Amino acid sequence: MKYLALFFTFTTFALAAKLPANQEKCAPGNSNCLLKVANEIISKGKTGYAEIGLPVLDPLRIEKLNIEQGGESPVNLKIYLKNVDMSGLSDVKFNKIEGFSANYDKEKTEFRFRYPVLNIYGPYKMEGRVLVLPVQGNGIMNLTMYDNDIVYKVQTKKVVKNGKDYIQIDKSKLDFVTPSLTVHFGNLFNGNKELGETTNRFFNENWKDILKEIKPAISESIAAVYQALINNVLSNIPQEELFAV
Ligand SMILES: *[C@@H]1O[C@H](CO)[C@@H](O)[C@H](O)[C@H]1NC(C)=O
Repeated sequence: MKYLALFFTFTTFALAAKLPANQEKCAPGNSNCLLKVANEIISKGKTGYAEIGLPVLDPLRIEKLNIEQGGESPVNLKIYLKNVDMSGLSDVKFNKIEGFSANYDKEKTEFRFRYPVLNIYGPYKMEGRVLVLPVQGNGIMNLTMYDNDIVYKVQTKKVVKNGKDYIQIDKSKLDFVTPSLTVHFGNLFNGNKELGETTNRFFNENWKDILKEIKPAISESIAAVYQALINNVLSNIPQEELFAV
């Protein structure tokens, strides 16, 4: 399986160097406080929180996401997404943050959170075979997952910039469990209505088996998006400013 994800929606803001005075800070590793503050900050993603380098999160534009799934898999599929919008991130609820301590160099931190609704909408192209069904299409994809539970594990490292220490995510890994998913691919088989409806019905009836095959690619792509977002914020604020002392 090969995949490629590119995500360039936000410009890096000028160094804020300080958190806004009214931004609550947490002691390093204080999980309850981190949870509360993270939930407040993510909800500000509705309009963006420029002071800390957080762009408008809804929607997030993903410029390119290519998934090429083949080999021995029952899903033999190439999916190319271009300029798709991912929405729902600002409604995320964190329910666990474990880590982010004073020993953040090579530290593992785990985030657990739930998306009530995660939607990906925009142009797709695909071709291949899914289980027994050949598929081909070029149009608009609308994919929605409900109550999506995410476990996002990161390893942080220390980066020194202009004599100041910053926390950055070095590696990250994501897994998710979704109990409910709907998807619609527009313009399948050059607009052949009957084949299009059959194929969309097939996708919606068999999404669990299909998702199992392409999940690693989706997980890695989304992990990369989160890593870019969080690092953008953390590269704005020196470590000494980040935590309450
Ligand atoms: C995408 O699908 C969801 C779920 O079926 C639906 O609520 C939403 O309106 C659709 N979006 C668009 C733009 O059609």
